Amino acid sequence: MNLEATPQGVVAGSVPLFAGHPARDLLPIDGLQRIISAAWGDGGVARFLNYGAEQGNPQLIDFLVERMNRTENLGISRENLMIIGGSTGGVGMITRHLTVPGDIVLVDAPSYRDALHIFRDHKLDMRSVPIDDEGIIAADLECKLRELASKGERPRFYYVVPNFQNPSGITMTRERRMAVIELSRRYGFAIVEDDVYSDLRFAGATPPSFYGLAGGQNVLRLGTFSKTLAPGLRIGWLIASADRIAEFVESGMLRMGGGANPFSAALVADYCRSGAWEAHVEWLRGQYRRRRDMALAALESSMPAAVEWTRPAGGYFIWLRLPAAVYVDDLESRAQEQGVYFASGKGFYVDPADGAHHLRLSFSFVSPPELRAGIEVLGNLIAQMAQ
Ligand SMILES: Cc1ncc(COP(=O)(O)O)c(C=O)c1O
Repeated sequence: MNLEATPQGVVAGSVPLFAGHPARDLLPIDGLQRIISAAWGDGGVARFLNYGAEQGNPQLIDFLVERMNRTENLGISRENLMIIGGSTGGVGMITRHLTVPGDIVLVDAPSYRDALHIFRDHKLDMRSVPIDDEGIIAADLECKLRELASKGERPRFYYVVPNFQNPSGITMTRERRMAVIELSRRYGFAIVEDDVYSDLRFAGATPPSFYGLAGGQNVLRLGTFSKTLAPGLRIGWLIASADRIAEFVESGMLRMGGGANPFSAALVADYCRSGAWEAHVEWLRGQYRRRRDMALAALESSMPAAVEWTRPAGGYFIWLRLPAAVYVDDLESRAQEQGVYFASGKGFYVDPADGAHHLRLSFSFVSPPELRAGIEVLGNLIAQMAQ
């Protein structure tokens, strides 16, 4: 088995339209190699190889704090930010600290599949609220909160992917974010903002973050280098109140864990401080925009009229709604027979049946010719099955 070619269960020789990670040619391999060589050469290699500070690599913290304040005017200080082992590790850590099994958490319908897994592992009681093309439907959220309050219940937090959402590609509007913040204050729940795609914006500006709009109050915001540098480094960050960060930093896991992945964090710090990361992000935006445009053009020319899809302004994903006669399970098995793999909609819902006519396509990993060919296969199958 060629491990390099098969991350996340990619079947060799297939068209993996499900894979939500960067293509090999989008990883800055030469740039990272230069950083590693320089670090090795200067004799300072020991700083890569020992335990690290609990809060994370100090240079990387300083870089991120300065960047957030410069680009978003966030007004945070180093007490508000810690380095984590990727956003997924952050979701796990927040879940362990903020909830006990049986607690209620709110998620979007649909929402990020792997976060739902973590909440299930932790035996949380997930309640979902539908989204439209502006994000969560605030009236439905309020209705759910009122219903819970009438039974003396309240959610611990609302988990949201605010920008270019996984799986739908939708970005929540500023107005919806404000409505959620108002409800979070009225009903007393935290907001966990998994903001892993905001740097991959193709045009225009993304609305301010929940963290920024709420002045940091009761919001925990996650970021990652997985989408804009390399997921194998396993480095992300968490922004929250100084009290929350202190609580996490002093947790048993970090006390002995020596900080999140000190080796990778030192590399990422050097890479960022050299200016290379921000230049790479700028370049990536153009690359992903081109792939998004190609995917949309292929959908336009290949899909029967009854299929609907989103037009994301950034990120990795396009979300399709199939005609009522076409079930995603059937489409999945027929597509796989032709070597085309996508992410079934069913994984993204608390109740999998809600995703029976949906699927997610990723344009981040496959080559442009594969992207076109894969979408064409799906279009032909759907046209046959819809008859
Ligand atoms: C919403 C969301 N959160 C987290 C992740 C994973 O991030 P990380 O690699 O930093 O754990 C992904 C990747 O697919 C994602 O889409």
